[in-house]
Amino acid sequence: MNISEKFPENWSFVYVADIHVGSPRSYRYQPSWNENWQTARRQIVDLAPDLLLVGGDLTRDGATHTEELQSIKTDLSNLPMESLVIPGNHEVGNKWSATSPVAINSRYLEHYRSVFGPSEWTALRGEGLNRVRFTGIDAFKLGSGLPEEADLKRWLEALRPEPDCPHHVWIIHPALFADHFDENDYDPADDRVAWYFGLNRGDRLYLWEIMKSLGVTHVVSGHIHCRRVVEVDGVQIHLAPATAFPQWGDRWPDGDDTLGFLRFEVADGRIGSEFVPLDRRSSLVGYGPGGNPPVKGRDYSVAWEQPPLKPVVDDG
Ligand SMILES: [Fe+2]
Repeated sequence: MNISEKFPENWSFVYVADIHVGSPRSYRYQPSWNENWQTARRQIVDLAPDLLLVGGDLTRDGATHTEELQSIKTDLSNLPMESLVIPGNHEVGNKWSATSPVAINSRYLEHYRSVFGPSEWTALRGEGLNRVRFTGIDAFKLGSGLPEEADLKRWLEALRPEPDCPHHVWIIHPALFADHFDENDYDPADDRVAWYFGLNRGDRLYLWEIMKSLGVTHVVSGHIHCRRVVEVDGVQIHLAPATAFPQWGDRWPDGDDTLGFLRFEVADGRIGSEFVPLDRRSSLVGYGPGGNPPVKGRDYSVAWEQPPLKPVVDDG
C-alpha cells in the first residue's frame, strides 16, 4: 500500500522540538525535562495526529551518549503514528565556530547517522489538495565548511519541484534568522545568543533560494525555544516552542516561550496551525551544568543511577 493511502482526506500533523530527554546515568540530568516530554507525548497520543515531526534537540547529550539517541529513537518508534526526525545541536554539535570545541563536526554527524540514518529527507503525505511535501535538513551543516556541508548542498540542488503538491513544509533546527529575514550576521562578541540562534545571512539566502524554487509554503524551526510566526514572501515561518524549558520570552512583543508543541490541520486544501501548551509543567529538580560542556571535564561520578553513561565520541 502506498503510504499516502493511509492518510484520510483531512488529516493532521504535530511538530515538536527541543524535548531534551536526558538520563539519570549522566553527568547532568533534569528530570523535569523528561517529565515534560512524557506530558507532551501523552497529549500527542490523545490528539492522534497522522504524522509527528521532531525538529531536533531530542536529547540532552545525544552527541556523546549513544544510549540517549537509542532511547529516544525507541520511544518515538513506540508511538502509534509515524515520526520524521532531524537532529539538533545536542545531537550533532553547535553552530560552527573555529573556537568552539563542541561545534558541529564529522564525528558527531556520523554518530547520529549510525543510530537515526540520514539527517536529510523529503517525503510526500496525503492526497490531492491535501497533499503535503515535507523536507527536513540539518541546516547547521551550512557554513560549517565540513565535507557534510558539500554533501548537503549537492543533495539540496538535486531536489526537484513536486508537481501537483500544493504545500511544502520544511523543518530545520536553527531558525532562518534571529529577529528578521534581512538581518546581517550578528557578531558573537556583541550578541552571542542571536548569532547562535539563526543561520548566517549567506547560508540563509542560499537555503531560501532553494526553498523558494521548490515551492516552500512553511518553514518550521526549533532551537530558540520561543514561539513566533512571521510571514516572508507569503511563506509562513513558524518558530516553534520547546517542551523542555523556555528561552527568549522577552525578545519580541509577539514571542511566547510557553512550553508546548504545534499542531497542523490539513483540510480542504489549507494548512491551519495551533499552539498546544503542555497540560502541566514539571517542577522536578536535577543536577549538573547547563550549556554544552565538552567531554573533558565532565564528572560522571555524580550520576543518580549506575552505571554511569560512557561518552562514546571523544570531542576533543
Ligand atoms: Fe534546544
